[in-house]
Order: sequence, then C-alpha cells, then structure tokens
Amino acid sequence: MSLGIIGGTGLTSLEGLEITRREVVRTPFGEPSAPLVHGCFRGYNVTFLARHGHNHSIPPHQVNYRANIWALRHVGVEQVVAVAAVGGIGEAYAPRRLAIPDQIIDYTHSRESTFFDQDAADVTHVDFTYPYDARLRRWLLAAAAEAGIEVVDGGTYAATQGPRLETAAEIQRLRRDGCDLVGMTGMPEAVLAREAELAYAHCAVVANWGAGLAEGQTVSMDDIRDNLTYGMDLVRQLIASLAPK
Ligand code: HPA
Repeated sequence: MSLGIIGGTGLTSLEGLEITRREVVRTPFGEPSAPLVHGCFRGYNVTFLARHGHNHSIPPHQVNYRANIWALRHVGVEQVVAVAAVGGIGEAYAPRRLAIPDQIIDYTHSRESTFFDQDAADVTHVDFTYPYDARLRRWLLAAAAEAGIEVVDGGTYAATQGPRLETAAEIQRLRRDGCDLVGMTGMPEAVLAREAELAYAHCAVVANWGAGLAEGQTVSMDDIRDNLTYGMDLVRQLIASLAPK
C-alpha cells in the first residue's frame, strides 16, 4: 500500500512524519502545490502534499489540482486521504467534528477539472456515482473507532468556488439541495483522483457553522483557527491509527 495525504488549511505539514526525501515532481500540467514529502509515519510509508503550498499561499480556486493528483500517481501513491476544512450545514456537523462524507455536489466553475481534454479521440466518462472509495472510507472509519475519535459517517459535501465564504442564502440553498458540509477544495480533486484510478476519500474537519447558521453571528476567523487547531490534532491521531493494508 502506498498512502498519500493531501493536507489542507491547518495541516500544511504532518507532525511526526520522519521525512526521508522531498521530491519536486514536474508534470504535464505544471507545478504541484509543493514538493512531495516522503517519509515514514508510525511505521508505514506516507507521501504528504500541502494542497495550498507549504506557506499556505495558494487559494482554493488556484490550486493546480491536476498537477497534484498526477504527481501523487507518478510516485506510486495508490490511496489518497484528503484532509480539508469545511463549514457545517447539517445538525450533526458541528464545529470541531470530523466527518467522512460519502457524496459530493459540485458548485465550482472555471477550474481545470479533467485529465481527458487533451486528445479528443480518448474521451473517457468516468463513473462517479459514488465519488469516494468505499474501502478507504471504511478504513478511515475503523481507524477513528480504534483511536476513540468520534466521526460522522457520511454526508454530502458541497464544493464551492471560493475564496469567499458563502452568503446565508447560499447556505440555505445548499441545505435545500441536501448538502451537509461545504468546502472549497473537494472538487475537482476527487474526480481527478477517480480519473487517475486512485482510491480517494475525504477526512473533513468542521471549522465553523455555515454562514447564517450560528444565530446573529457572522463567521469568525478566530473561531475557525481555534476549531481547526483542535480538529487537525484529531486528524493526526486518526492518521496515526491507520494500520497499513
Ligand atoms: N465554507 C466554505 N469553505 C469552508 C468553510 C465554509 O464555511 N469553512 C471552512 N472551509
């Protein structure tokens, strides 16, 4: 097994990773967000990639998702755990909770969202009925149970364009659409992983209630920071209990 971890806001490096090598990968799609960091985490091999760059300078709509996924595949990664901060919409998705969503609705636009636009003779329509890999989801849920970390099993992830947060009306619309979580980076990352035949699952950390859901309050960046510090610590514990498969 070769595990890749894409770290998002709040997880720009993986504490406890004994780094063996950093690798700059050149891809046909340009530069990945950062060099890949190879190492050993609690006895198994991990390749870590900081989605927004090591100094968190790349906003969600400018992440080179194609280069990132291509690079991970190129170095032999087969499974990708994508860690991402999200806003909570459904009642169960309160700030500081972790969730392993099972569905996606894509509201992003103008992003390079396929590997199959170079050669028209080779158009492939990937199946995306179940956007996350079932086995990898189960693995994450089992690791959480083993570590005694409460996670929400399932939920629909809304991918929005960002970088701004949503309006209260947009969050109500997402709720009517059946979305439980909202974030800015889940797409096209997930579909590119599917096109590249990588097993991919999301470990979402709820940083805040979606706009307008905390009565009378706007979204506070200080709260987001505190909640992410707490949640990412849980993510590290969860990753630590992922036994190699
Ligand atoms: N909306 C979109 N993305 C986010 C949010 C949010 O409320 N919180 C963290 N990432």
